[in-house]
Amino acid sequence: QHEISKLRSRQAQWEPFAWYKEMRENSPVYYDTEQGVWNVFLYEHAKRVLFDHQLFSNKKERSLIPVPRNDNRSNVNSSDPPEHRKRRALLAKAFTPRNLKEWEPRIQAIVDELLTDMEGRETVDIVKELAIPLPVTVIAELLGVPSKDRSQIKFWSDILFLPYAKDAYHDIAERKAQTMEDFCEYLYPIVQEKRKHPADDILSDLIQAELEGERLNDKEVVLNGIGLLGAGNETTTMLLSNMFYSMLVDQPGVYRELRADMSLVPQLTEEVLRYRFPAAIDRKVAQDTDIFGHTMKKGQMVVAWIGAANRDESQFHDAEEFDIHRPGNHKHLAFGAGPHFCLGAPLARKEANIALTTFVKRFADIGLVEGFEVTEHLVDSAVGQSLKSFPVRVER
Ligand code: HEM
Repeated sequence: QHEISKLRSRQAQWEPFAWYKEMRENSPVYYDTEQGVWNVFLYEHAKRVLFDHQLFSNKKERSLIPVPRNDNRSNVNSSDPPEHRKRRALLAKAFTPRNLKEWEPRIQAIVDELLTDMEGRETVDIVKELAIPLPVTVIAELLGVPSKDRSQIKFWSDILFLPYAKDAYHDIAERKAQTMEDFCEYLYPIVQEKRKHPADDILSDLIQAELEGERLNDKEVVLNGIGLLGAGNETTTMLLSNMFYSMLVDQPGVYRELRADMSLVPQLTEEVLRYRFPAAIDRKVAQDTDIFGHTMKKGQMVVAWIGAANRDESQFHDAEEFDIHRPGNHKHLAFGAGPHFCLGAPLARKEANIALTTFVKRFADIGLVEGFEVTEHLVDSAVGQSLKSFPVRVER
């Protein structure tokens, strides 16, 4: 017997992997009668849910994943093709490969500054000194908002991604609504200014982006900007934090391997995304259908457990092992799949790869701090599992 409360608490666990395995093996397509929710755990099923927008819609009245969503025209995620294609195309104009190439030196400079601050010390906090400040500084700078405001932006973005606690649902909803208002009020004059004087940044790109004669108005630019700030922050913080956790706990020794051959860094990034990004994505069944050996009804919800799919033995040999050399690790679903595939994936990968390569060049070795207890450092998040602080020994 599984109830939704149990599912939720599993999702919030630091290591739900044994439960994922049990579900893949015993109940790979599990219907939660109480909530009217299907749960799929196998790679092929999760991928189908993400790809097949005709059967599994992202236009939903409720969401089981408590991250901010809204129904306004500019929210790229809560729509289906063909409407989605247009919203996404406008946004994608700010995320071209050429832009990404141009951003590289800016990301490198931010990483250098953060790592220079760590110099001369024996212990550093990977989360507080690198994993949190890097993504927020990068996205604030790329968007073109003043970097002096970054702790305010991080503060807002953390509230927007707070999970909804059952007993405090309304309080949290109210805090989120207020935060959204404050954030819009802050960004609106910045956008108006950029419309008059475009600069070399994402907000200016969004203002100028045109598709079939349509452009975004100021409000839409503001909402898209907030969407990017939110989407790019906590997720990338988790990737960076989990990267160090994996190097120290999942495969000690891999750090020295990277020191000897830094070209392995991107392989490590992919394996961390596969191995330690236990997240879930939900959709709404758009029409009655017989699928995965079951009958799904229009209006029911489906949760694709991508963290479980990423350890499916049919796709990844010895899936429970952390192995940066396994071919095909990049097939993981941590960035989703299909029409909603993460727009920021190249940026997140770039940040992680630059940060780790620079770190490995500067520090000869890393080690766990004595007495470190992971359970005392877990973050309370709706997005996935990670740490709120991670003290690590470093050697020059
Ligand atoms: C969508 C994960 C970083 C912007 C998604 C989705 C996932 C995801 C799973 C698909 C959601 C769905 O199917 O409904 C991640 C992870 C990241 C990351 C694991 C870091 C490790 C970023 C960054 C940005 C970004 C840095 C931008 C600055 C977006 C946007 C979408 C999206 C705009 C919506 C795309 C659409 O609906 O068409 N992300 N993301 N993400 N992500 Fe990311």
